[in-house]
Amino acid sequence: MITGKTTLAGIIGFPIAHSLSPVMHNAAFAELGLDWNFVPFPVHPDRLAEAVAGLSALGVAGFNVTIPHKVAVMPLLDEVSDEARLIGAVNTVVVREGRLTGHNTDGIGLVAALREKLSFSPAGRSVLVVGAGGAGRSAVASLALSGATRVEIANRSVEKASDLCLSLAPRLPGCSLGAVSLERLADPGYLAGFDLLVNTTSVGMKDDSLPGLSLAGLKEGFAVYDMVYAPPVTPLMKEAARHGIASANGLGMLVAQGEAAFYLWTGVRPPKGCMERALTAYHSLGKP
Ligand code: ATR
Repeated sequence: MITGKTTLAGIIGFPIAHSLSPVMHNAAFAELGLDWNFVPFPVHPDRLAEAVAGLSALGVAGFNVTIPHKVAVMPLLDEVSDEARLIGAVNTVVVREGRLTGHNTDGIGLVAALREKLSFSPAGRSVLVVGAGGAGRSAVASLALSGATRVEIANRSVEKASDLCLSLAPRLPGCSLGAVSLERLADPGYLAGFDLLVNTTSVGMKDDSLPGLSLAGLKEGFAVYDMVYAPPVTPLMKEAARHGIASANGLGMLVAQGEAAFYLWTGVRPPKGCMERALTAYHSLGKP
C-alpha cells in the first residue's frame, strides 16, 4: 500500500513498458518489508531534462536510466562516479538532498554474474568481447577494472571496435586491448588464446547466431557469457553445450545490476535470489 510515508524509486526510458526493473525492485521491497515503491516512467528524449529535474523536485530517492537516456542524462547530474565516467553511461541515479549522483551498475552486474553463474574471476585472464556498442563498452571497462590482463573486441564494424580501444586504452593501463573483425570468430586458433567469450550484441534474440563461430577445441575451463536472456537458452549457449563449455545467459547480469542499484538507493542488500525468483515467476505467467 502506498501511504504518505512511502519512498519512491523508478526508471526512466523510452519506451519503458518492456522493463523488468519494476518487477525485481518491488519484489525486493516487499520481501524486506520496506515502505518503498518502484515506478516506470516513459520519458520522451525531448523532455529528459524536465523529467530529471521533476523527479528530484518530487523527492524520488533514486532512479534507473535505460535506453535511450544512459548517455544523455550525464550532463544533467551533479556528480558521476569514476566507473560510470569510464563506461561513458549512467544506469543508476541516487538523489540525496537534491543532489543527483550517477553510477553504472552494468559492469558490476556482469562481473557478479560471471562469479555466481560461471565461477569465473576476470583477474589475470584473457577475454574476447563481441560487440562494441554501449554494452560492449561497459563489459570491456568492467572486465579490465576487475583485473583482466587482455581484452579483445570483435565487432561487425571493426572501426567501431578500434575507436572503443583507442578511447579506453589510456584509462585502463593494466590491460592490453585489441580490436578485430567478427570473421576472427571462425578461427579456432584465435579463440584458443582466450579464457572467456562475452556476447554483448543483440545476436541470439531472434534465434540467430554469430556468423562462423565455432567453439570446437578450446582449452579446459573456457566459458561463455551471453548477455541475451530471451530465449533463456540462446543459440550461443547451445553451441557452447555442444562442446561441453559452461555458459550462462544475461539474466544473472540483469539481476545483479538491479541488486547493486537497490543497495545504492536503500543501503540494504536485497534478499539473495529474491529478484531472480520474481523475474522467473513473472516469465512463467507468460510475460515477455
Ligand atoms: P548496446 O548499447 O546494447 O550495445 P548498440 O550500441 O546499438 O547497442 O550496439 C549494438 C552492437 O551489436 C554493435 O556492436 C553491433 O555491431 P555494429 O557496430 O557493427 O553495428 C552489434 N550487432 C547488432 N546486430 C548485429 C548483427 N546482426 N551481427 C553482428 N553484430 C551485430
